[in-house]
Amino acid sequence: MKRKPRPPVEVTIDGLDGDGIGTGLDARGRRWTLRGAVPGSVVLAGGRCGSGTVLGVVQPAVDAVEPRCPVFGTCGGCLYQQVPLERQRAEKHAALTTLLAPLGAPGVGPIGTPGEGYGYRNRMELSFGVDRYLGRAEQARANAGEEIERAGRFLGLHGAGRFDRIVDLDACAIASPALDAVLARVRADVLASPFPTWAPRAQTGFWRHLGLREGAEGVVLLVYTTPGAEAEAAWLVEHAPTWGAAAVLWYTTERTADAAVGDLRAVLHGEPRLAVSLGGVPLTLSPLAFFQVNPTGAELLLRVIRGALRPGEGAPEPADVAPDVAPSGLLLDLYCGVGALGLALHHEFSAVAGIDLVAEGIAEAMRNAALLGVRADYRAGPAEKLLPDLLRDHGCTGAKSQRLAVLVDPPRNGLHPDALAPLCTLDADVLVYVACRPSSLARDGAKLRAAGWRCTGWTAVDLFPHTAHVEVVARFVREPA
Ligand SMILES: C[S@@+](CC[C@H](N)C(=O)[O-])C[C@H]1O[C@@H](n2cnc3c(N)ncnc32)[C@H](O)[C@@H]1O
Repeated sequence: MKRKPRPPVEVTIDGLDGDGIGTGLDARGRRWTLRGAVPGSVVLAGGRCGSGTVLGVVQPAVDAVEPRCPVFGTCGGCLYQQVPLERQRAEKHAALTTLLAPLGAPGVGPIGTPGEGYGYRNRMELSFGVDRYLGRAEQARANAGEEIERAGRFLGLHGAGRFDRIVDLDACAIASPALDAVLARVRADVLASPFPTWAPRAQTGFWRHLGLREGAEGVVLLVYTTPGAEAEAAWLVEHAPTWGAAAVLWYTTERTADAAVGDLRAVLHGEPRLAVSLGGVPLTLSPLAFFQVNPTGAELLLRVIRGALRPGEGAPEPADVAPDVAPSGLLLDLYCGVGALGLALHHEFSAVAGIDLVAEGIAEAMRNAALLGVRADYRAGPAEKLLPDLLRDHGCTGAKSQRLAVLVDPPRNGLHPDALAPLCTLDADVLVYVACRPSSLARDGAKLRAAGWRCTGWTAVDLFPHTAHVEVVARFVREPA
């Protein structure tokens, strides 16, 4: 027998959990975890306490501000736009202080870059479709029997939990203005073209996805389509140079899965590389390679990491390159991606050694290290498998014979136990843990502590304003003998 859905209940939101998710109590004293619920507000919640859904706002927080994004609430991103930026940071600080208590050290932040926290993203990925996702208000009207037009040609983000419905977007409040400018041009042109957008249920159509990335030379556009015929190719060749992008790359795919992947069919315009920089160090990357999505925030993050790698007590403070310091020792850059952080710090070390799972990222790291003249040893594969050999090959298994600094920047799940184990016994000067999911740091940090590492402090960086996410940098040193 089908269970009846539970009736919605009112929940008073009193804080965020350590990963930025709203939490609060209902009238029966049950604690709810509700994505996007704003502390200080009362919401109508459905589903289960541990993973409920906000169905509506009964009473906004007293200091609620008007969200800047026209599709706020429909898009499902940037859930905290209604909360003033300073309070977002205060709520995140309170949540982190509780969550990171097992580190046994003081923490500061999130600290952020100046401004209102909009227009920071240097990357967007959008999907084409034929069915528009309705916002709450429109859905309520549709439920009440009103005929609402939904079919058409759309470009935007998927509605929550819907692979087949698109939140139609012509701009994004957290995207850089340069991305929005190119998006407006390409969107108008493509949606007026003679070729259909992708219909996921019928699995037909030409336009699939659009990727936009901003680099030093402008916006690189990645256009994903089904293979098409000569007319489609001729149309793209004619129109691509008019969109104001620095480069336009065309990828085709016959896969039906909803993912922006494909084989490079042609470079329609410009140079197929993305030029970026971090800490004044120039890097050129494949337009598909990972790079920090908030470039201004990444500069602050890098300065905090640089401060954390230096001897010190308390929460790491942002630091700049010291001109008078001679490079020395080895930096282990684990989960290094394209090597951006380690290469940006290379002035301070004689050599850098890194590991990342993704071979393409490692190839980029090696190429950039060679261009910069950095002594580097990058290896592709799982850190949990490769770390023991890397440590042995660099003479790091016994008592320390040179300055040794470790930087770990793992994915959201944190360190694999087999990567954590050799770090627990490693004799190094400092271990800096960069966490994109603070609860993973709390778990791994407690194990490091039990193994004789002492956390001096942590500093959170507001890399993703208006969202639940936050980055934390924690410094660990060996407990004095
Ligand atoms: C948060 S990103 C860090 C990127 C890099 N530090 C940067 O700032 O550009 C996490 C990285 O971990 C890598 N990764 C995921 N699982 C891994 C594993 N088991 N072993 C090694 N690297 C892994 C991913 O490919 C990704 O590049």
